[in-house]
Amino acid sequence: MTDPRTPEDQTPTPQATETPIAETQTSDSQRRILTPGSDLNPRREFLRSAAMFTGTVAALGGGLEVLTRRPGLSSAEAQAADPFSRADRPLGPYDTKEKVTPYQQATTYNNFYEFGTDKSDPARLAGSLKPRPWTVRIDGEVRKPQTIDIDTLQSWFPLEDRIYRMRCVEGWSMVMPWLGFPLAALIRRLEPTSKAKYVQFTALLDTKQFPGQKQQVLKWPYVEGLRLDEALNPLSFMAVGLHGRTLPGQNGAPLRLVVPWKYGFKNIKSIVRITLTDKQPLTTWMQAAPQEYGFYANVNPAVSHPRWSQATERRIGELGRRKTLPFNGYADEVAALYKGMDLRKNF
Ligand code: MTE
Repeated sequence: MTDPRTPEDQTPTPQATETPIAETQTSDSQRRILTPGSDLNPRREFLRSAAMFTGTVAALGGGLEVLTRRPGLSSAEAQAADPFSRADRPLGPYDTKEKVTPYQQATTYNNFYEFGTDKSDPARLAGSLKPRPWTVRIDGEVRKPQTIDIDTLQSWFPLEDRIYRMRCVEGWSMVMPWLGFPLAALIRRLEPTSKAKYVQFTALLDTKQFPGQKQQVLKWPYVEGLRLDEALNPLSFMAVGLHGRTLPGQNGAPLRLVVPWKYGFKNIKSIVRITLTDKQPLTTWMQAAPQEYGFYANVNPAVSHPRWSQATERRIGELGRRKTLPFNGYADEVAALYKGMDLRKNF
């Protein structure tokens, strides 16, 4: 299997003043300019969308207040009322102060190979994904294996928001305001046995909902994993929403992983199974290209991808490139997890 991925860009962006969502990549790395999509500005359309999906307000726990519909607001008023705007909301201990990537860009420039390998495929094709009804199988080294409905799972936890940087292995980055709950809270609730050392996540396998799975670009279903102590780190997060709205299909509805100190491909989307295990999971990208993608995939500017440097990144919406930070800027929170490990070997 050949790795279809190429560096996002190591060359100046043509027409750099255009919105970056208009950029995408062809397989030979040449750029073309697409017409930007329709106006999806959430600031004009605060949704009770999660409640619409679940049919129950209670299922949303503490996150619902940020999902209130605000009809009739001008975009300036709506912007001022954005629950993620700096003025409205005190930042939590894990939030970055950096400028949040607008909803339109975060939802139209995506990697989700189950829909296709072009950045625009997920937004274009995500309508085929049906995030309700949805169940998550929980098994392996847990005291009570079970298959649980997503709304029930969500109702176990008050929803929190987290503004995290996300750095793709291809060399671009965004700042994403997620809504969800800490992965540690879920794991503790599952009562792992003493044998549990890793957590394996599996995404949906269904060629009707995921047309890209008809092509063997990757081995399906998409699989990812974390060491148990990584999963228990307070930064590890399960997202069910983005920008105060229910997670759109293209961003991994109805449930995705967010581990902000790792390259974006660890953030598996549309999860249907969580398995606690004593063995290190064989992840999709390790199978596809073991010489290029390791299990840890911690953001590390000192270790180049075999085909491109990881020293810098392009923040979507900005001109030029900025320096990539070790552990994507989360070293204080996570560096201790890797004490004594050679992160060149354990890449
Ligand atoms: N999850 C699944 N199931 N399939 C994928 O192809 N792509 C990964 C990750 N999760 C992927 C996935 C990659 S490479 C990245 S960079 C992020 O999702 C992108 O997340 P975003 O589109 O929400 O920004």
